Amino acid sequence: MYKKISIAISGIGNRALPKNNKKAFWDGWLRQITKLKKFKLVAVHDVSNEKLKKILNLKLLKSSQVYTNFDKMLKKEKLDALLVCNPSKYHFSYIKKALDKNLNILVEKPVVNTFEEAKKLLKHKKNEKISVIQNWRTKDVGRILRKNILKGSIGNVEQIFFRYVRNREKTYYPNYIYKEKFPALYAMGIHHLDLFRYILNDEIVTVNGNFFKPKWSLYSSLTGFNLHLVTKKKTFINYTSTFSSLNSVNNQESIIINGSKGTMINESDWLEPPIFIQKKNNNKKKDLTYNIKNTSIKDQYNISDKIIITNFCNVILKKEKPICSYRDAFKTIKLIEYCKRACLLKKEIKIV
Ligand SMILES: NC(=O)c1ccc[n+]([C@@H]2O[C@H](COP(=O)([O-])OP(=O)(O)OC[C@H]3O[C@@H](n4cnc5c(N)ncnc54)[C@H](O)[C@@H]3O)[C@@H](O)[C@H]2O)c1
Repeated sequence: MYKKISIAISGIGNRALPKNNKKAFWDGWLRQITKLKKFKLVAVHDVSNEKLKKILNLKLLKSSQVYTNFDKMLKKEKLDALLVCNPSKYHFSYIKKALDKNLNILVEKPVVNTFEEAKKLLKHKKNEKISVIQNWRTKDVGRILRKNILKGSIGNVEQIFFRYVRNREKTYYPNYIYKEKFPALYAMGIHHLDLFRYILNDEIVTVNGNFFKPKWSLYSSLTGFNLHLVTKKKTFINYTSTFSSLNSVNNQESIIINGSKGTMINESDWLEPPIFIQKKNNNKKKDLTYNIKNTSIKDQYNISDKIIITNFCNVILKKEKPICSYRDAFKTIKLIEYCKRACLLKKEIKIV
């Protein structure tokens, strides 16, 4: 029998333990970890005593196993792994300390907060011990799109049209949200740009674009962008996104993938099924996800999280490949940086 993996979590916020489980988009990492018998939760770290009290109330850990001091937790606990799900500005420093202790790390997107930090971590000798949480890869739609593209169901993929239109301008949101830099690019581009790379199994080599926002927006930074991206294999991706649409009736996400032998289409909020395929010279569309019963936002996040945590377990115990390694996640962070540069310079730039 395998020894259990001793794991600690840093950051007991919404992703780890949602405040209101009924309304949440996921069950969260704490439930995922405690359900999987191969992990043993041995410690939790958060700067908020209130959050740590919630853990104690659940009677999962003793008071000696919850920490407000990260260094103390690393010193006292015998850990094999760490799950990092605190705000991204802290990821870099915690990851470095955990790598010094030779821990296996699973970290929420974005793996680090800046391109500068990402470049430093790229030079770290132990960065192969990092797995990154990129949920759009492991939702059913992400996996089925990739499978069908790679097996040639729609021939050569030549054009992608991706539209993201969201109302994130609600006055009851906390004020700090409105100070975020290029919020749609950073908060959602990390999922969408990563999805393009993943489903195409290809890399984007040039990008052109521009930012925009309406006058009435509550954000200080630009909330919308248009990007034109070209991959190595010459797929043209047209990606438009905004957080500043006041309508709340449309689906947020829309993806049309045109190939030489057919088209795949998905309209959803957070990449839920269905995906339709329509073959060339055939007017009928077929639902590629007809047999998937659990299609809600929460079902799809839970499916995706379970795949990620199971993969992390197998990376440690069976030397399986991570679904998203550090080197892979680095390429998405780099792509976001180049998208930002292209939009600010308003010209096409090569990704080198
Ligand atoms: N995969 C996804 O789709 C997805 C969705 C939402 C958030 N996230 C990511 O998950 C991470 C956490 O997001 P969240 O929504 O749970 O945030 P949150 O604000 O709900 O929770 C963050 C938690 O971290 C704690 N914290 C703050 N500073 C800390 C520090 N220095 N050390 C340790 N803990 C600290 C806070 O007290 C809080 O409990 C972020 O990286 C975010 O980008 C990913």
